[in-house]
Amino acid sequence: MTNSNAQTSVVPRAEHIRPYQVLLIPDSFGEDVRFFMPEPQAWGSLTTIESMMLLKLMRIVNPQKVFEFGTFKGLTTRLLLDNLSDDYDGSQRLYTLDLPDLDGITFQGADLAVASQSIGFKRKYLTSARKDWVKQLLQDSMTLNGDDYGKQFQFIFVDANHELNYVKRDTENSLRMLADAPSCIVWHDYGNPEFPELTQYLDELSQELKIYRIEDTMLAFHLLGHEVAPRRT
Ligand SMILES: C[S@@+](CC[C@H](N)C(=O)[O-])C[C@H]1O[C@@H](n2cnc3c(N)ncnc32)[C@H](O)[C@@H]1O
Repeated sequence: MTNSNAQTSVVPRAEHIRPYQVLLIPDSFGEDVRFFMPEPQAWGSLTTIESMMLLKLMRIVNPQKVFEFGTFKGLTTRLLLDNLSDDYDGSQRLYTLDLPDLDGITFQGADLAVASQSIGFKRKYLTSARKDWVKQLLQDSMTLNGDDYGKQFQFIFVDANHELNYVKRDTENSLRMLADAPSCIVWHDYGNPEFPELTQYLDELSQELKIYRIEDTMLAFHLLGHEVAPRRT
């Protein structure tokens, strides 16, 4: 028997979409991409499908400037760098931020192990012919002031410290730093069981901000100026 007086509370959630719904969004690039296969044992960076999805989202907005929270080994930095269009002046178009050291930082899950590998690593983007387009910032993202970069970036990737306070800070800063449409913020680790509060935070944020989660990945995104393709029934 059902109780007709029972209140059904709707839990907010990012809209879950299939990868093809992203691939179907038009972009102004040709068929060529420069791609790097992830090493089979690599961890702490993106999977192959996540890299493709991130790249597609970047092509959709064709950013003049990109900001990455969490450089790590610089694999994703290199991927984004080598696929930027040359429609714009090349100087310092890709800002990427990571820690100078581990002092005073709180970590959750495997983040401490990942951060330890990152310190002093010879980052992959340094092998790119476009390495001078990169501005490497070495600071705790908690000390970043997004207002210093107000509306400067068309594409922002949030993948640094996954503990809730850092994710909130990085997200709030990203919203200040995000340029007008077309533009996009992408988060990594949505749905990662190591960071349940991150997923809950993005789900709650989806009440104020349209957020999509791409199934088969741990990517979530907020896209301005383009429509996501409808789901096939
Ligand atoms: C998961 S890795 C980034 C992976 C990278 N985006 C990729 O796709 O290859 C997270 C990085 O965030 C950095 N990190 C952790 N806490 C941070 C903080 N408070 N401020 C800035 N960077 C931080 C770590 O040192 C680590 O390199």
